[in-house]
Amino acid sequence: MASPKRIGVLTSGGDCAGLNAALRAVVLRATGHYGWQVVGIRNGTAGLLARPVEAETMALSLDLLDGTLLRRGGTILGTTNKGDPFDYPMPDGSRRDRSAEVIEGYRQLELDALIGIGGDGSQAILRRLAQQGGIDLVTIPKTIDNDLGHTELSIGYATAVKVATDALDQLQPTAASHSRVMVLEVMGRDAGHIAIAAGIAGGADVILIPEIPYSLAGIAAKIEALKAQGRNFALVVVAEAVKTEAGEAVRQTQASGAQTYGGVGHYLAARIAEETGSETRVTVLGHLQRGGLPTDRDRLMASIFGVRAVDLIAEGHFDRMVAWSGRQVIDIPISEAIAGYKAVDLDGPLVHTAQGLGIYLGEFRP
Ligand code: F6P
Repeated sequence: MASPKRIGVLTSGGDCAGLNAALRAVVLRATGHYGWQVVGIRNGTAGLLARPVEAETMALSLDLLDGTLLRRGGTILGTTNKGDPFDYPMPDGSRRDRSAEVIEGYRQLELDALIGIGGDGSQAILRRLAQQGGIDLVTIPKTIDNDLGHTELSIGYATAVKVATDALDQLQPTAASHSRVMVLEVMGRDAGHIAIAAGIAGGADVILIPEIPYSLAGIAAKIEALKAQGRNFALVVVAEAVKTEAGEAVRQTQASGAQTYGGVGHYLAARIAEETGSETRVTVLGHLQRGGLPTDRDRLMASIFGVRAVDLIAEGHFDRMVAWSGRQVIDIPISEAIAGYKAVDLDGPLVHTAQGLGIYLGEFRP
């Protein structure tokens, strides 16, 4: 097999901490080890719509590695979680299939292979493009939500959990000083991985995740029990995708018209105050979970995934996602990764642990 000499890399979907560490690893392996050129494509697949397409690229060379990239949040390439090329939003409000233009942009860059760093939605789009355009694609999992199948970890998750845990560390003393119930709303578009991990690590009394139904009476009973034990405060963690007791999603409409989660913490705090008479306050952690310095774990996963993704290209293995499983880096078909959505495992150790610690986790009995 002739070695590819020029590869592309892009980041796609919501950003997270650790993306730059992955880009660094790709450059160190591809250029430092194999002697290849690495072309960074800006703003995900949107960059491939530019003409001349080179205008939306940047050479990722060893010169770029000044010692800071490993530590920096965000992505130096930019990213987008809008603009599906198969259903692209046009300025006049219409939608158009622009996939052929994206593929043509890729062709114009004369790349031998592409590394796409993204979550399930981005990987599904990239795979469709790869199949349509004959692109040799390898993907790296990233999502703070950690809901991609067949990988125990995705880049960004560890940092998000740390930010949420740190928030609980900071809320606890003020909660205790004022005898309050503090509600912390964390991200997780459909899954409660951040909430349950940070809730356990940060000493929450109540953790609500979308996978488990809850009752306000159950939450109130837990808070009353704490009061009866002499506790003057409580910490409640709620994942943004948790619904109201009536089963309605709580969402915000952005100026663009996009619907995003946000607000269930305020809903709950008001209900808890009504039910228990406690003074409540709400913190919505939001995008703080996506920024900041990547933790050691995210830097490590990004480095492991970046090196392995480049090696897969060197070996001529495509249409595969690198993954972390059983303390090993593995690779699996992208189709399996995106088909295997991973919610919080109700039989898993975190649910068992939370219940073992006496945390109110909803109306779920193992
Ligand atoms: O999927 C990652 C994520 O951060 C979710 O946890 C969150 O619901 C969403 O993205 C927020 O998206 P946006 O950046 O568009 O507000």
